[in-house]
Order: sequence, then C-alpha cells, then structure tokens
Amino acid sequence: MATEYRTETIFTWGAPPLKFGVGALDEIGFDLGQMGLSRVLIVTDEGVAATGIPQRAAEALQGAGLKPTIFTGVHVEPTDQSLREAVDFARDTEWDGFLAVGGGSSIDTAKAINLLTTNPGDLMDYINKPVGGGKAPSGPLKPLIAVPTTAGTGSESTAMCILDVLALRVKTGISHPKLRPVLAVVDPLTTLTVPPHVTAATGLDVLCHALESYTAKHYESYARRLPEQRAVYVGSNPVSDAFIEKALPLLSRSFRRAVLTGHDLAARTDMLMAASFAGMGFGNAGVHLPHACAYPIAGRVRGYRPPDYPQAEAMVPHGESVSLTAPAAFRFTFPASPERHLRAAALLDPGTGHRSTGDAGDPRERLPRAIVSLMRDIGMPSGIGAVGFIEDDIPDLVEGTLKQQRILAMAPREVMPEDLAAIFRNSIDNW
Ligand SMILES: NC(=O)c1ccc[n+]([C@@H]2O[C@H](COP(=O)([O-])OP(=O)(O)OC[C@H]3O[C@@H](n4cnc5c(N)ncnc54)[C@H](O)[C@@H]3O)[C@@H](O)[C@H]2O)c1
Ligand SMILES: [Zn+2]
Repeated sequence: MATEYRTETIFTWGAPPLKFGVGALDEIGFDLGQMGLSRVLIVTDEGVAATGIPQRAAEALQGAGLKPTIFTGVHVEPTDQSLREAVDFARDTEWDGFLAVGGGSSIDTAKAINLLTTNPGDLMDYINKPVGGGKAPSGPLKPLIAVPTTAGTGSESTAMCILDVLALRVKTGISHPKLRPVLAVVDPLTTLTVPPHVTAATGLDVLCHALESYTAKHYESYARRLPEQRAVYVGSNPVSDAFIEKALPLLSRSFRRAVLTGHDLAARTDMLMAASFAGMGFGNAGVHLPHACAYPIAGRVRGYRPPDYPQAEAMVPHGESVSLTAPAAFRFTFPASPERHLRAAALLDPGTGHRSTGDAGDPRERLPRAIVSLMRDIGMPSGIGAVGFIEDDIPDLVEGTLKQQRILAMAPREVMPEDLAAIFRNSIDNW
C-alpha cells in the first residue's frame, strides 16, 4: 500500500489555460463570450486605467455583446481595508464573472472579490492560519480571467491572494486552488508602458520566484500528507523545475534591456514569458527565505518612496523587498543543494563559472554575485539600509519573518532566528 510511505511520494501541479502573445488582449471579447459571460466586472487600479488598457478590454467585451463595468479602486499592494472596500463595491451587482487587468495588485483584488461575493463569511475567515481562520471556500467561485500588465507576480496562474493586514503589520495571504483564474491572457503589448522602476522591481519578483522555487525543499522530503492536507505549495518538483529552467535564460537575456529600453517589444515579450513560467513554477513549488524576509521589510517601511510608484504612502514594492535579502539568503541555503544553486547561477549569468577574480572563484558566491550584478545594473537600492533600515531594526525584522512559518518551512535548510538576523545584517548593503 502506497499509504505506508512515511515521506511524500506525490506532487501536484496546476495552472490555468494560457493565451500568450502580441494582440492576445484584442481577442478577450471572443474568449469571454465563449464562456457565456455577460455582466463582467473589470478590476484594475488608477495607474493601469491611465494607460487605457482596461478601457480597450471593455470595448472588446462590448463589441462581443457583453456588459462590462470598470472598477479602478484597487490599492497598489492590497490591504485588508482595500479588499473589503472592493468587495463592498462588487456586492451591489450580480456578476457572471471577473476580468482582472493589471499587476498582482489588481489580480489579487479580483481573487478576493470573487471569493467573498460567492462564498459566505469574512475576509479573515479565509486568510491563512495563524493570522486568519484558514477556511476553504465551501461553494464554487465565478470565472476569473486575468490579464497581467506587469512582468511580475505570475498571479494570473497562481492560487494565492496576498494582502497586508494593517492592524497586525503583517503581509499574508489566502491560498486555495479555487482562487486560480480560469484563463490567463498574456499580451506583451500591455507591458510597454510599465515605467523603469516598476519594470525593475517586478522583474526581480520574477527572478526570486524562479530562484526560490528551484531551490525550495524537495517535495519528497516532506512527511506524507493525506489528500485533504495537500497544500498549494508542494516543494520543488520536476514540472516546476522545467519551467524555471526556461525562465532564467529569458531573464538573463532581456531583463536589463526591458528596464533600459521599455519600448523593446522583444525584451518585454521575454520578460512576460519569464514571469508566466516563473508563476507556473513557484505557484506550485513555493517560495522561501527572500519572500519570508520581504514581508516585514514591506510591512515596517517608514519613509521610503520609490520613483514611478504612487507617492501618497511610503512603500517598498514587493519585488524590491524580495530582492534585498536574496544574495544573503542564497549564500545561506547554498550547502543544502550546491548543484541547484550553481545551475541557477549558470542559467542566469552564463559567464559566472569562468571568472576567477575575487569571490567568483568561490562556488557559494556565484549566485549572489549574479543577483547583485543584475540589481546594480537596473538601479535597485543596495540593501535594506538604502530603504531606511538600520542594525537596530533587525530584531523587529526577524520577529516579523518568524511569523511566515508556512514559507519558512519551504526553505531547504532549517532556519533559526540567529540565521535570519545574520541574513538581514548581511543585507544592509549588498555592494
Ligand atoms: N498572488 C500571487 O501569486 C502574488 C505573487 C507575488 C506577488 N503578489 C502581490 O502582487 C502585488 C504586486 O503586484 P505587481 O508587482 O505586479 O505590481 P502592482 O500591481 O502593484 O503595480 C505596480 C504599479 O505599476 C503600475 N502599472 C501596472 N501595470 C502597468 C502598465 N502596463 N503600465 C503602466 N503602469 C502600470 C500600477 O498602476 C502600480 O502603480 C503585491 O501586493 C504582491 O504581494 C502576488
Ligand atoms: Zn513574489
């Protein structure tokens, strides 16, 4: 009997159907019409609305005889409060389905709207334990179609919705397979207007999704789970690996170009492909240390206001917050799987193994160096010091990271509080 195995023998992998390519958005009326939808809520933010892309989607839906309404109230990096407001807006009408047009913020807001307008209960009931009740939706959700306009989160293919719980100063999420969009429509033309700093930050999110899922604890090293216990994140696995091995060379070839020459459609296409592939990878395998450390960095920000983002509130954008501890985190995880770290470094920076100057001769430094070289070239801050944290903040950052037990459990090495403190200390200045 297979159930006698004490360690896991099974992995699961899921992603929605994908329509990818230049002009894909123009076919959205046909696609949603085929699903039999009529009243559709388009969910977006003001920055994306200013590009005219959601309006183009609405016109395409009208052309196919559907009845779209545009909601532009998404908060850049959603909070419990912004999600509640969005859900309240959506409750007034009976929708047939939802169309998210925007970055992760818009797609995640659409996931929350879909969940809470179709299933009973409060937002907190569904948020992952221990912050929320970890409840699973009891009934079906409506179709959600996602059009990502950043080469970023991969949220169009994941089963996660990430939010800030303001009162607790903690970033957490809701994860359930029912949250996954039913179709991802991915059109590189929608990303040509993304400003340089947003291109840089969102691209680093892609990079960290790829590197963290590739080096995550392997699915076979977990204790055997019962079917009802299987989580969305299963650990690194052969299918996720295959997508990541495709994503990294695309980032290597086109990330710098996409930031420096935003109108370069070939570079934008590579980046969006990399984001999709990384989403299909990490959305099943999971992420670990850089994402766990990022949540308190973003949640405890004081005065940092990055260019190209809304200036009303201080923020460390998700991708930026994730990248700041990545060099130190991968230096820490290296001994758990040197061959995976070296393969990732070689895919990201093919020259990395051949240099013999400085630290480059030390295999453990190859991946951190490849990340730092990219971060410098695309104008990212040099570490948590540059976004306003000092040595005295480290205990607070460690305490915030320890709340991310679900993600920390995906790390390939056991992590103690003093290891986290060392990672933050080494990340004050990466160069
Ligand atoms: N659900 C998941 O699987 C998942 C994974 C990673 C991150 N996230 C979450 O996603 C959010 C971040 O999403 P993001 O990084 O995609 O950015 P975002 O959605 O927050 O958008 C960032 C900024 O870029 C602007 N923008 C977006 N597309 C544009 C375009 N085409 N042209 C011009 N401006 C544009 C927006 O108006 C906004 O000001 C965070 O809350 C993060 O925690 C979710
Ligand atoms: Zn991320």
